Amino acid sequence: MIVKLSSGREIPVEMHKARMVQKISLIPAEERLKAMQEAGYNTFLLKTKDVYLDMLTDSGVNAMSDNQFAAFIKTDDAYAGSMTFYEFADAVKDVLGYQHVMNVHQGRAAEHLLSKIFGKQGGVIMTNYHFTTTKAHIEVTSGSACLELYADEALKTKSTHPFKGNMDIQKLKDAIKKHGRDKIGYVRMEATTNLLGGQPFSMENLKEVKKICDQNGLLMVMDGSLISENAYFIWKREKGYENKTIAEIVKEMCSLADIFYLSGRKNTCVRGGFIATNKKELIEQFEPWLPLYEGFYTYGGMSMREIGAMAVGLREMVDPSVAACAVEQIKYFVEKLDEMGIPVVTPPGGLACHVDARKFVPHIPKEQYIAGALTAALHIASGVRAMERGTISTDRDRDGKEVYADLELTRIALPRRVYTISHIEYIIDRLNWLYKNRELIKGLKFVSEPPVLRFFLGKLDVLENWSRKLCDAFKKDFGETW
Ligand code: F0G
Repeated sequence: MIVKLSSGREIPVEMHKARMVQKISLIPAEERLKAMQEAGYNTFLLKTKDVYLDMLTDSGVNAMSDNQFAAFIKTDDAYAGSMTFYEFADAVKDVLGYQHVMNVHQGRAAEHLLSKIFGKQGGVIMTNYHFTTTKAHIEVTSGSACLELYADEALKTKSTHPFKGNMDIQKLKDAIKKHGRDKIGYVRMEATTNLLGGQPFSMENLKEVKKICDQNGLLMVMDGSLISENAYFIWKREKGYENKTIAEIVKEMCSLADIFYLSGRKNTCVRGGFIATNKKELIEQFEPWLPLYEGFYTYGGMSMREIGAMAVGLREMVDPSVAACAVEQIKYFVEKLDEMGIPVVTPPGGLACHVDARKFVPHIPKEQYIAGALTAALHIASGVRAMERGTISTDRDRDGKEVYADLELTRIALPRRVYTISHIEYIIDRLNWLYKNRELIKGLKFVSEPPVLRFFLGKLDVLENWSRKLCDAFKKDFGETW
């Protein structure tokens, strides 16, 4: 929730209290440098003991509510026919409006099944923007190309456009004409667009996309991993929705998708995922494959306790104070950095504060992994673990040629109900220090590079020994400790 202080300034305040906490520690800069070297300058390979604020992702690390923990205990464990699954299916009906649902072990498992069943060898799948695992499954599992139909505004990191996650309607029409309906697996809308900086789409855009899909006999698939955040943006930013509830907006969004799926590790819970639809003939296409890849349909690779907690999480996510929690912290974070002249993606989106690495370290050439270098530098300067969302996160093409990412972002994720404004203030200060010392940050080169989703396990090294110099500059300003 937002409150206005006597000074007139607005700040987000938490609508929950912490009743169980986890101790974290901040190791000195010299040890952070050592940890980063051992991790091959890849924040995925850091150990959490070497991380102060873990802002790698919101996936699987949001705080659960007391009622979600209660659901962990009150679970009906059964291989088949568990009543916990039916309680979950009721929550899906009530909150999202879908009659049919099946669990999967996480979001990418849904993407695997979707690509396998609806993807067309040599065809295309269209999306407002790809997510890493989505694209990998579109290409690897279905043998299709991933066609991105974002509007030009989407790649402008500094912008006031409220819905940079919109699909470009003209590009959609042109692409359908060009490829022909038989070559198109489906049209996918991601709420909110992760790799564009958590940017939402509008309801108006979703309706137009759906209309065109219907006119052309195409399936509209929605990735709703952050649906309540996208709904919150519609509520805040779209004319005609200011008097609706988040619950109503979520239901309306869902009513437009033929198939809905999500990663349950984000808005709804900390584990799992599911696929839902109102069309029996569609769910029947998934059914034969579910036991082969995920498990029997009343658990789909998840534990019953996770499904129980997800049922509670689904109902809770449409509470405005829950939907707002990360979004309002991100807004505070982004607006402060923007005021200080530090390049960030605007307007603020969901999921994270995204630093525009291309503008932060413009002297690093695109071949030297701009966002990767900044992300590593941030850990050395602060102990904060962010994630590279740029060229390292974009695999090479089939001929082994480097594909330079549209955006080079350092993503500082805000897990829901975990961190506080004082944590954010600390990062703002260290980012400011880093910005003043940005000339010290140079590029990276791969030392070992996996062929698919290389950002997970790839190892890199610094060029020109810059990490040592950065660490020394930090110690000169802050002493031997923090
Ligand atoms: N779709 C979106 C929009 C996502 O953000 C993610 C995961 C997935 C699908 C895949 O789901 O991880 O459960 O298999 N995003 C995480 C992140 C990993 O850090 O942004 P998953």
